[in-house]
Amino acid sequence: MNKIATLLVLVAILSLRGAESRNHRVLNSVSNSLEYTAISCRAHTASITDFGGVGDGETSNTKAFQDAVNKLSQYKSDGGAQLYVPAGKWLTGSFSLTSHFTLYLHKDAVLLASQDINEWPVLKPLPSYGRGRDAAAGRYTSLIFGTNLTDVVVTGDNGTIDGQGAFWWQQFHRGKLKYTRPYLIEFMYSSDIQISNLTLLNSPTWNVHPVYSSNILVQGLTIIAPVTSPNTDGINPDSCTNVRIEDCYIVSGDDCVAVKSGWDEYGISFGMPTKQLVIRRLTCISPYSATIALGSEMSGGIEDVRAEDITAINTESGIRIKTARGRGGYVKDIYVKGMKMNTMKWVFLMSGNYKAHPDNNYDPNALPVIEGINYRDMVADNVNVAGRLEGIDGDPFKGICISNVTIGMAAKSKKVKWTCSDIEGITSGVSPPPCDLLPDQGPEKIKACDFPTQSLPIDTVELKTCTYRLHYM
Ligand SMILES: *[C@@H]1O[C@H](CO)[C@@H](O)[C@H](O)[C@H]1NC(C)=O
Ligand SMILES: *[C@@H]1O[C@H](CO)[C@@H](O)[C@H](O)[C@H]1NC(C)=O
Ligand SMILES: *[C@@H]1O[C@H](CO)[C@@H](O)[C@H](O)[C@H]1NC(C)=O
Ligand SMILES: *[C@@H]1O[C@H](CO)[C@@H](O)[C@H](O)[C@H]1NC(C)=O
Repeated sequence: MNKIATLLVLVAILSLRGAESRNHRVLNSVSNSLEYTAISCRAHTASITDFGGVGDGETSNTKAFQDAVNKLSQYKSDGGAQLYVPAGKWLTGSFSLTSHFTLYLHKDAVLLASQDINEWPVLKPLPSYGRGRDAAAGRYTSLIFGTNLTDVVVTGDNGTIDGQGAFWWQQFHRGKLKYTRPYLIEFMYSSDIQISNLTLLNSPTWNVHPVYSSNILVQGLTIIAPVTSPNTDGINPDSCTNVRIEDCYIVSGDDCVAVKSGWDEYGISFGMPTKQLVIRRLTCISPYSATIALGSEMSGGIEDVRAEDITAINTESGIRIKTARGRGGYVKDIYVKGMKMNTMKWVFLMSGNYKAHPDNNYDPNALPVIEGINYRDMVADNVNVAGRLEGIDGDPFKGICISNVTIGMAAKSKKVKWTCSDIEGITSGVSPPPCDLLPDQGPEKIKACDFPTQSLPIDTVELKTCTYRLHYM
């Protein structure tokens, strides 16, 4: 935008100098070019209007989107293609993307999710979950879906995807859903995915769900849903490797980021962890849930999560580990530093008794291993309870390290600032003083908790500057 504005000023100056005929061309080419950064640029570009799309907010564009993707998939091995969505309200049901493909939303483009149930094909349950979350059977395909893809970009100049979730939330509350609600964006069995610079509103349930995938870049998302809406998690990496989430602002009715890897016996047998996950510069508002949750579905394991520069405001908890007997799996090598929190129920929350099970066939002897949890350099204010850390009887959560954390309690906070059971670890420079299960090592150990210094492969991904000439705007 700024660049365009500067150029327009330049054009205006040139026109004062009387270079009128040339200006006209300059102005046109400026207003018809598009520039942004992405993991790949495409050789071909087309607009949804080329495929009969109508942006009136009433006409269904499901077929136009699917036709466009199908047609543009011919360029997969010929430089790839971009589908441009201009300003307008584009009503659509679920559609699927293709490889070497970019979906770009103009700043005033709104994808409006259809409320016609026939526009939402049903998929089988995820193998690592065994069933759907809302109903035992399958699940509605997400609005923007991709499976077995590589090199896909979903981006825009902060264009909007509006899930019109109220319709789904109502059916959920009435217990009327036959299948699990659709997500806004889901990629399965895919790699090299970028989701960036978009506003996501009112998702029927989770907003962004990469699953069984790797090399995922999520940047610059604004995600907004009513804080009372059911299960509107922000971003849920699920059995994924190499994921980077940064510069996101999330207001939601559930966890802002929820890291997952399958559910009980299904997740254990699928056995695919989430690992090498970076989360930075996240702002979260979620009065009834966590800023970052690990679990509760973590049966494939969660490992090497690095979160930094996180802000939480009016949020139930900061970092939360959720698990239970029967989950199996592990949560290990978790590193969080640089969190600022204001108005929290709990800063630290570990729940070893998070019971929701897919069915009664889980193995109660499948105990999760929780080990190597590092939290440091945090400040919090207006807090009700500093920490509520509950491991599992006979299966303590180990290697917990908390250092350099200052928690200001609310005027009406609980008398007991920390409650701890079945946990083992150390602390240094933490106030108010933690429970006896986390003995204070003295101020000289204030840097005790680890944070890795070597970067992960996802941090070295280079973005290219892509420039397109458009014949439409
Ligand atoms: C997103 O937008 C920001 C701010 O306009 C810009 O700096 C950044 O390059 C964009 N990122 C991507 C991945 O498009
Ligand atoms: C996608 O990949 C998965 C895992 O490799 C495979 O099981 C599945 O059959 C593939 N699906 C399609 C539609 O190709
Ligand atoms: C994107 O749009 C949302 C909603 O209008 C707004 O809150 C946010 O600040 C915008 N982000 C950017 C980077 O312009
Ligand atoms: C303690 O944490 C604060 C941020 O909350 C940071 O500015 C400071 O440098 C940290 N102190 C040490 C000794 O690392």
